[in-house]
This record gives sequence, structure tokens and C-alpha cells, in this order.
Amino acid sequence: MDKIHDVVVIGELNVDLILNQIDQFPEVGKEVLAGNMNLTLGSSSAIFASNLSTLGVRTTFIGKVGNDNFGDLVIASLKSRGVDTGNILLNDDHQTGATIVLNFGEDRAMVTHPGAMEHLRLEDVQETVLTSARHLHLSSVFLQAGLTRQLVPLFQKAKSLGLTTSIDPQWDPAERWDIDLKALLPHVDVFLPNTAELMALTKTSNLEHGIESLKRYANILVVKGGREGAWAWRKGELVHQPAFLNEQVVDSIGAGDSFDAGFISKYIQGKSLQECLEFGALSGAINTTRPGGTTAFENLDLVKSIAESTFNYTF
Ligand SMILES: Nc1ncnc2c1ncn2[C@@H]1O[C@H](COP(=O)(O)OP(=O)(O)OP(=O)(O)O)[C@@H](O)[C@H]1O
Ligand SMILES: [Mg+2]
Repeated sequence: MDKIHDVVVIGELNVDLILNQIDQFPEVGKEVLAGNMNLTLGSSSAIFASNLSTLGVRTTFIGKVGNDNFGDLVIASLKSRGVDTGNILLNDDHQTGATIVLNFGEDRAMVTHPGAMEHLRLEDVQETVLTSARHLHLSSVFLQAGLTRQLVPLFQKAKSLGLTTSIDPQWDPAERWDIDLKALLPHVDVFLPNTAELMALTKTSNLEHGIESLKRYANILVVKGGREGAWAWRKGELVHQPAFLNEQVVDSIGAGDSFDAGFISKYIQGKSLQECLEFGALSGAINTTRPGGTTAFENLDLVKSIAESTFNYTF
């Protein structure tokens, strides 16, 4: 049967309030000024969905926002990039989450109020929405307290309904890394941590040992290594893709999510691991040429022109 969507994304939704040009890091009891600020769509899952849609993939989203202005902003931003927002739930009891980002030189400090996104549960994921798509992607496992314990039944269900699946775990702010990968990974077709997350999840100290310890359970393992590019492992095959180096990085907010979007856009077309990795790395690199996670992906023409002018790559 023909599906209405290619990919259903389940994940967290929030806004980012980014404060730039702060001349001194704030101290308790004092006030400092920021020379510039930007209120924009935040959250790994939303950046992934937004950029995936720009790449031409029909994308729908299951998530929770509050019935408030930040929720309106999240929904309007996703809609403007063509993401189907009809499955986003409004929650009257909790506010839409927000991250306040203090950019200070090369470094940044962040404070997040998760709000409504913590309250998405397995019961909120309707079977009819799952079956409307060919592929399920979930991001930020540890920011979604309502779902963390129910990941195995969720992914089991998606697989039994015939979907292919992927997860980007993202960082665990509590650094407990408490998920049962042995039970979960057999139901995940593509697992996409970065190097630090892989090592923390597997309690290993390098990439090789991290991959080794997941080999028995994982299907495809994709590890993102920033400027070192990325690796993909599938039974008997390990492929490395160098980064498309950008020497003038504006910022790397969302580079990993854009990488995921590029990789998954090719994966669902049945392309080879090398092709998926290459397009993932290109998408991650394109992300670093503009501020924030979605500005380089405003539309497909812009993405193509950055690929050509900055990375000498035509698609
Ligand atoms: N400076 C850079 N130049 C070119 N490409 C880059 C650069 N930084 C990142 N990338 C590309 O983007 C990909 C993803 O970035 P990274 O490895 O930082 O993911 P991540 O840690 O998951 O990111 P995020 O913080 O967004 O979750 C990299 O594997 C690489 O291909
Ligand atoms: Mg990441």
C-alpha cells in the first residue's frame, strides 16, 4: 500500500533562545548584557525533521508542546519547511520546553526546561500514524523521560508493522546512560551516536572497542566524529567517510542532526552505506556554514548551492 509519509519522527520539541556577544560570563547576583539574541526552533528531533523535509523526504512528527507561544513557534517553523505537524500533541498542563544558550567565545553554557516534551508516552504514539510512514526515527532518548523505559516495545511494534527504524541517542545530561542496548538494538536498523556518546554508552575508551561491544546486537552502527568525519559498521563491513572540511565554521549547532537527515534520506532509498555516509557528512558540513541548525536548509536550492560553492559537490 502507498504510504502518505516516508518518515515519522518521534521526539522532543523546544525553542532555543540564543544569547550572543556576552562580554562577561554571568555571576550570581550580577547582570551582564548580550549584544545579540535569536529565538529559534531548537531540539535535535525538530532540526532533523525540518532538514529531512527540505531534502525532499515526506516527514511527519509525533511530539508534545504546551498550548503557548513557544509551541506556536515550533509548529509554525516545522510547517514552513513542509513537515506535517498534524500529529503534534498540545498539552494544557505543561509549557513548551526551552533552552537558553549563552554563547561565550568558543564555548557555551545551556539551561533547558524540558516542559511538555518529557511527557510523551507510548500511549501517545498511534498505530495509524506509525503505519502512515515507511521509517521511524527517534532522537534524544534521555530527554524524553516518559518514553525512555518504553523504547523496546515501541521499536518492536514499529518493526512488526514493517517500518525500518533509526535512533540518535544524543547526550545523557544525567550521564547515567541507563538504556538496555542489548534488548533495544536488534529492533533498530540504524543507530547513530557520536564518538563520545558511543564510548559513554558502552563504557569503553575508544571507537574500536565501542563498536566491538555492540557488534552482537547492532544492525547498522553509524558513529559521528565531528571534523574526523564518520564511520559506519554493518556485519563484516566498516566504512569511513572523511568530513567535508569547512575551515570557516559559523557554529556546529545541529550538525549531527543534519548528518542524520542526510544519511537517512539516502538509507530509505536503499543506497549503499558509503553513499549514505557521504551524503550525511555533506549535510553535516553544510549545516556548519550558517548559524543554528536549520538556516542552511531553508530550501533545497540553497542546500544545493552551498554544496556546490563551498564543497564543490553537485547533487
Ligand atoms: N567543522 C566541520 N567541518 C565539516 N563537517 C563537519 C564539521 N563538524 C561536523 N561536521 C560534519 O557533521 C557531522 C556530525 O557532526 P558531529 O560529529 O559533531 O555530530 P554530533 O556530535 O552528533 O552533533 P550534535 O552536537 O549536532 O548532536 C560530522 O560527522 C561531520 O561529517
Ligand atoms: Mg548528536
